[in-house]
Amino acid sequence: MSQDLLKIRNVSKVFSLPKGGELTAVDDVSFTVEKGSICVLLGPSGSGKSTILRMVAGLESRTEGAVLLNDTPIEGPGRERGMVFQAYSSFDWMSVGKNVEFGMKINGVPADERRARAERFIGLVGLSKFIDTYPSRLSGGMRQRVAIARTLANEPEVLLMDEPFGALDAETRWQMQELMIDVAEASGTTMIIVTHDIEEAIFLADKIVFLSSHPGRVKEEITPLFKPGRLRNKEDVIALPGYSELERKIMRMMREEGHK
Ligand SMILES: Nc1ncnc2c1ncn2[C@@H]1O[C@H](COP(=O)(O)OP(=O)(O)OP(=O)(O)O)[C@@H](O)[C@H]1O
Ligand SMILES: [Mg+2]
Repeated sequence: MSQDLLKIRNVSKVFSLPKGGELTAVDDVSFTVEKGSICVLLGPSGSGKSTILRMVAGLESRTEGAVLLNDTPIEGPGRERGMVFQAYSSFDWMSVGKNVEFGMKINGVPADERRARAERFIGLVGLSKFIDTYPSRLSGGMRQRVAIARTLANEPEVLLMDEPFGALDAETRWQMQELMIDVAEASGTTMIIVTHDIEEAIFLADKIVFLSSHPGRVKEEITPLFKPGRLRNKEDVIALPGYSELERKIMRMMREEGHK
């Protein structure tokens, strides 16, 4: 029985350029994302990663093909898909707690339940002590955790993240990657994460979809089979036999695509 929550089928995106002409950003891309898994979209700049994510989010139309969630076509944004952007998008005039409650308030969740859910997800991202603090008093990594908690609090079936840790320093980035493993384990949320970062991709992914550039096509689907399930510590993954070989293989693929 198929456990695929999301099916991306023969999806293409052609942009019409303002000065005339067309650009094929995504060309006949197909892949599936299993329920509860982490799928990483990896590829060089311009390979259509953000465009694909935006089509899954329903923020961008498709030129061809279909995106199915639970076998139902996606035709616009929906609550069952939550998006976390690269830039910190917290509301600075509201406390961390109110930030996380915001979406639930709009969705009509009663106050008691809102508070309880906010506490749970703020705890999950390790910010319980800061629930009454304003985001402007937090570090970049902490603010990104607020954004993740806020999106998770709406209990989406799929969490979509476009280079969510790109703006963070190396150490915070590493902590956030480990946090995502914890979140995936604790919440069972299915995730699609876009990144350029090979180490991040190998650490997080149950499946990597590697895209070629111009036009964006699936060059290879990679399942990091050397990992015995999800490991919480990054250094344990890096130390596994098979890690360096996969890292080298992906680096070569990146280089080939970069020279096209
Ligand atoms: N609104 C748009 N109009 C025209 N072209 C676009 C538009 N959005 C994206 N493109 C083009 O589509 C291609 C894919 O862009 P996309 O942003 O999806 O790539 P990406 O893989 O996310 O790149 P990066 O890693 O740099 O974020 C690029 O060539 C880009 O110039
Ligand atoms: Mg992008």
